[in-house]
Amino acid sequence: MPPDTRRFRQRRLLTAGLAAAALPAARAAEVSLQVLHWWTSPGERRAADVLVARLAEEGIRWRDAAIPGGAGVGAGKVLRSRVLAGDAPEATQMIGATIVEWADTGLLLELDGVARGGQWAQALFPEVLRGVQHRGHVVAAPLGIHRINLLYVNLALFERHRLAVPRQWDDWAAAAQVLQQAGVVPLALSREPWQVTTLLEGLLLASGGPVLYRALFSRLDARAAADPRFAEALARLRLAKAWAGADLTEQPWTRALERLRSGSAAMMVMGDWAKGELMAGGWNPGEHFACVPVPGTAGHHLYSVDTLTFFARDYAQAAAQERMAGALLAPALQAEFNRAKGSVPVRRGLDAAAMDACARESYTLFARGGDALVPSLAHRMATGESNKDAIVAELHRFFVNDALPVAEAQRRLAAVLRVLAPGG
Ligand code: BGC
Repeated sequence: MPPDTRRFRQRRLLTAGLAAAALPAARAAEVSLQVLHWWTSPGERRAADVLVARLAEEGIRWRDAAIPGGAGVGAGKVLRSRVLAGDAPEATQMIGATIVEWADTGLLLELDGVARGGQWAQALFPEVLRGVQHRGHVVAAPLGIHRINLLYVNLALFERHRLAVPRQWDDWAAAAQVLQQAGVVPLALSREPWQVTTLLEGLLLASGGPVLYRALFSRLDARAAADPRFAEALARLRLAKAWAGADLTEQPWTRALERLRSGSAAMMVMGDWAKGELMAGGWNPGEHFACVPVPGTAGHHLYSVDTLTFFARDYAQAAAQERMAGALLAPALQAEFNRAKGSVPVRRGLDAAAMDACARESYTLFARGGDALVPSLAHRMATGESNKDAIVAELHRFFVNDALPVAEAQRRLAAVLRVLAPGG
């Protein structure tokens, strides 16, 4: 359908959708939408159930299509094959650059009227709003902001070994050494490529700061791969690998987190959905565990934003999809969902006092904007899906092969970036 006709149809449907959204819940006809997502751990499920319950109050039934696999590695593949088979889900979890990639195909429903009606331009953080736009149109409904550069510490173990929560690399390395000598595994870590990348992202941010980070992972600048600060981050990744000891297998993030909780490992680096998971299990930040920035990254927010997008298909569900998109931004839903998820709301100007300390820091830092914000590579914020996969594969090759010199890994990544860089 030519874009103009499509816009016109979208506008007509939108009017119908907003009219329905304005009706009291009891009078709006019940609608039902299938939602594809990857929130399958107990904590994530609890957060998804908040959406299910709140949307039900608005007469919107959530039909669940959950695909297991941390960071949506499985869900992304299922989504692609379903779209190719002409069976796109009506709503789907999507992140960062993949929103743009899918919007480029012209298959996503535009939500401009919903955004106007809900005053998203005023309500949302500018970075969040930018992230859900494509060629001037809003194409996704944002749900929450995750912080990725976080270190979790089992406080009972740290107290037993009289250790302070590390803030800089040297304290971190020293604590790991004390724990190792006492026979405690310092770091819960999985060999899964996206989890290894999560750790490397934090280490690179600490060693090289946001400028080098963006040069490598957003601008794909091959020259940046030769930077000695990148070499330092790779060397530290190798050291951290040794902290994981013999437990280093390819396991889901929930299994690694369980090792932190049970005390069979003392620390873990992971996005703040891990905080949601720990809290769902009755563990409180500051009491059972510390949740602090990856040492050396305190002023930075390595972020990803969860959103839902809506495949337009034949527009038969457009009014229902618009109702769902609008409802997701309701302040009460935002607060409840993000509390359960471990993330923070996408709406600005909120009182952070009611948030836990970890969320408060995340929210305040995100509100600062500018250079404090650094897009996550592993979670598709820095660059698109296939670029991300190529970089992650190269980092993973270095991680699994202890015989590969750091300098060689730098050269190999530079070669990959040269191919990937726009016009490269
Ligand atoms: C998503 C989170 C999810 C995490 C673990 C991230 O990519 O943004 O919502 O909890 O993956 O699967």
